[in-house]
Amino acid sequence: MSKLVIEGGKPLCGTIPVHGSKNAVLPILAASVLCTKGVTVIQNCPDLKDVKSTIKILRYLGAKVKKDGHTITVDASGKLRHRVPKRMMQKLRSSIIFMGAITARNQKAKISAPGGCKLGARPIDLHKDALRALGCDITEKHGYIYVCGKNRKSVELSLRFPSVGATENMLLASCLTPGVTKIKNAACEPEIIDLADFLNTMGAKIIGAGTPEITVTGVNSLHGTEYAVMPDRIAAITYLCCAAATGGSICLTNTVPEHLETALSYLAQCGCQVEAEKDVIRLSAPKRLSAVPEIETSPYPGFPTDAQSLFLALLSTADGTSTIHERIFENRFKTADELSRMGADIEIKKDIATVCGKDHLTGAHVCACDLRGGAAMVIAALSAEGTTEIDNVCYIDRGYEALEQNLATLGASIKRM
Ligand code: EPZ
Repeated sequence: MSKLVIEGGKPLCGTIPVHGSKNAVLPILAASVLCTKGVTVIQNCPDLKDVKSTIKILRYLGAKVKKDGHTITVDASGKLRHRVPKRMMQKLRSSIIFMGAITARNQKAKISAPGGCKLGARPIDLHKDALRALGCDITEKHGYIYVCGKNRKSVELSLRFPSVGATENMLLASCLTPGVTKIKNAACEPEIIDLADFLNTMGAKIIGAGTPEITVTGVNSLHGTEYAVMPDRIAAITYLCCAAATGGSICLTNTVPEHLETALSYLAQCGCQVEAEKDVIRLSAPKRLSAVPEIETSPYPGFPTDAQSLFLALLSTADGTSTIHERIFENRFKTADELSRMGADIEIKKDIATVCGKDHLTGAHVCACDLRGGAAMVIAALSAEGTTEIDNVCYIDRGYEALEQNLATLGASIKRM
C-alpha cells in the first residue's frame, strides 16, 4: 500500500495542463459499445485506475481496445457479450452506465450493483426507473440485475432528481430506440454534454444536452468517430485549491473556465485573484484566505459536491468562519475527522459543516477516505507546517493522473513511498 509524504509550507507556483475528465471519459468508453460500424478513437483520455477498470470491462465484453498514450481506440464491431462479472462491476460506480449501453447494443444485459466511493447509500433506483420507462423489463436474482430491452419504446420521462448517471443511462438506452424520447429534469453537468456530443458524432440525434430537457430521436445504428474528451473540471479546481491554500500563484492550461464558474467565484470570495481567458485560468492567492460565510453544494451549475472536501481543507486555515452545506450525498463529511488530526476546527451537524479557520494546520499521519477526500488531505498537507503522511493513496489514484509530478513541477515537496 503506497502513501504520500508531503512537506508543507511551500507556495505553489508555475504552469501545468489539466488532464481529460474522468467523469466524462468513463460513460464515453461505455458508449463506444454502441458503435457497430468502424472504430471509435477517443483522445485526451486520462491515465487513471477507473479508466483501466473500464477498459477491462470493454475487453471482457469482446471489444478490441488499444491504448496509446492518451488515445484509446475501441473496436466494438464484432459480437459482444451481454454480461459483466460482479468483480468488474464493483471496481467503480460508473460501471452502472454499461446497463444502458449493453441493453441498447444487445437488447439484454446482466450486470450487478456498481462500486465506487462510499459517499452515502448511492442507490440505482433512478437508473432502473429510467430503463423501465423505456419499456425494459428488469428483474433481480442472486445479486444480478437482468435487463431485457427487446420491447424498448420512446417515452417522455421526468427524473425525480437530476442524477448524472441516470441521465447518462437514459441517453445510451434511448439513442437506438425508435421514436422521440424526452428526458425532463435531466442532469445539466458538462459531462452530459460531452457524452451527447460524442454520441452525436457517431450519428445519434440528441438535442438539449446541458439543459433540463433533452430530446433523443432514435436512429438505427451508430458509426465510428474520433473525439477528444473535455478537460477535468474537478482536477482543475483541485490544483487551484492547492495553490490557493499555499499562498501560491498558478496557471492552468487545457481548461474550460465556464465549467468552473461557481468554484472560481468562491475562490475570488476567499481573496484570490482569478483570471480566465480561453482555455487558461490564472490564480494568485493572498498570504491568508478569507472565510466564505455560506457554500451549498447542488447540481450543475451550482457548487459541485466533488469540490466540497477540497473547500473544507482550504477553508480550515481561512480567516473567519465558513459553512458548507452538503446537499447531494448524505455521507461526504468523513474527511473532516482527518483534517481535525491536523488541527482543523470543523463541526459537523447533519449536512452542515462549520469551519473555524485556524492560523495554520500541522503535519500528521492521516488517510484518504475517498477520492476527493484524499485530494483534500493533499491540499491540507501542502499548506501545513511540517510533514504529513497520507495513507490509502489508491483512492486518489482513481481520479488524478500524475498528481505528484504535477505538484512537484509547481514546487511542492511530495514523495510516494
Ligand atoms: C456522478 O456520480 C459523479 N461520478 C460523481 O463524482 C459526482 O459526485 C456526482 O455525479 C454528482 O455530481 C461519475 O460521473 C462517475 P448522481 P453519480 O446519480 O452519477 C442520488 C467523483 O468524485 N441517486 O447524480 O453516481 C444519489 O444517491 C464522483 O468524481 C439516487 O437516489 O451521481 C445522490 O444523492 C463521486 N438514485 C444524488 O442522487 C439513483 O438511482 C446524485 O447522484 C441515482 C442517484
